Amino acid sequence: MNALLEILDPDDPDRALAQSLDSSRLPRHVAIIMDGNGRWARQRNLPRVAGHKAGVEPVRVTVETCARLGVQHLTLYAFSVENWKRPRSEVDMLWRLLRVYLRRELADLMRNGVRLIAIGRLDALPAPARRELLDAVDATAANRGLQVNLAINYSGRAELADAFNAMLAQARANGGLDRLSVTEDDITSHLYTAGLPDPDLLIRTSGEMRISNFLLWQIAYSELYVTPTLWPDFTRGDLLRAFLEYQRRDRRFGGLNAPQSAPHRSDRSAVAELGPSTR
Ligand code: FPP
Repeated sequence: MNALLEILDPDDPDRALAQSLDSSRLPRHVAIIMDGNGRWARQRNLPRVAGHKAGVEPVRVTVETCARLGVQHLTLYAFSVENWKRPRSEVDMLWRLLRVYLRRELADLMRNGVRLIAIGRLDALPAPARRELLDAVDATAANRGLQVNLAINYSGRAELADAFNAMLAQARANGGLDRLSVTEDDITSHLYTAGLPDPDLLIRTSGEMRISNFLLWQIAYSELYVTPTLWPDFTRGDLLRAFLEYQRRDRRFGGLNAPQSAPHRSDRSAVAELGPSTR
């Protein structure tokens, strides 16, 4: 938290927002569907790629803010398996922007102790983008601050299919295929995100009420926060407001909160009214 306050002027409204956060209850893992670049460009009569270009700065600010606040994991949906359906020129621009971002930001990532990870079917990336991405992953491997997981050529369904195929291959190699039985922990530990906590907070910009094939297994109990703001307009203040809203949520994970968890007298009498158990 202090690391964030250090870079905010006393009269910066983001300072008051940051100070109203409870630093002991920050989300450990934040996932973001960065949406609305195309609409941002269309509103300005610009080509769609101008929206993607304008989307790089909010990535920088979001990474810096999470790193300085002490968030542990940030997963950004940068390119989906389905995004290959877009015009070639747009897809090529996205790879170019990724390379520009990595080159421009590596020094800052190192300074902020950020570790970069890439999740997705990376083999399909154009060779130069893949090489620079993996170089940045190597360069930041020893950093112990925020871990940024860039979801690239990612699909939640593909991730699950890859996990099941990995489990099948393992069982085949161990000669245990006929006895194979899979637990939830087995699935979790074969995902691209193995070892990461599930996202506490999933943010989606641009107002669309969709999950778009993102982290399907991992978001079972994530808090969802959808803002109408288009990604290129997403500011540090927007991120802090999402965290404040997250801290107002009552997370029950299907259970009840501690003060209510002992059955109330009225609950017991309501059960009694149902009559003898049929089990
Ligand atoms: C969705 O907006 C956004 C993307 C498919 C690409 C995300 C890319 C960036 C934010 C640029 C930089 C990223 C990194 C990691 C350097 P959209 O094009 O679907 O918007 P629309 O729904 O308004 O058309």
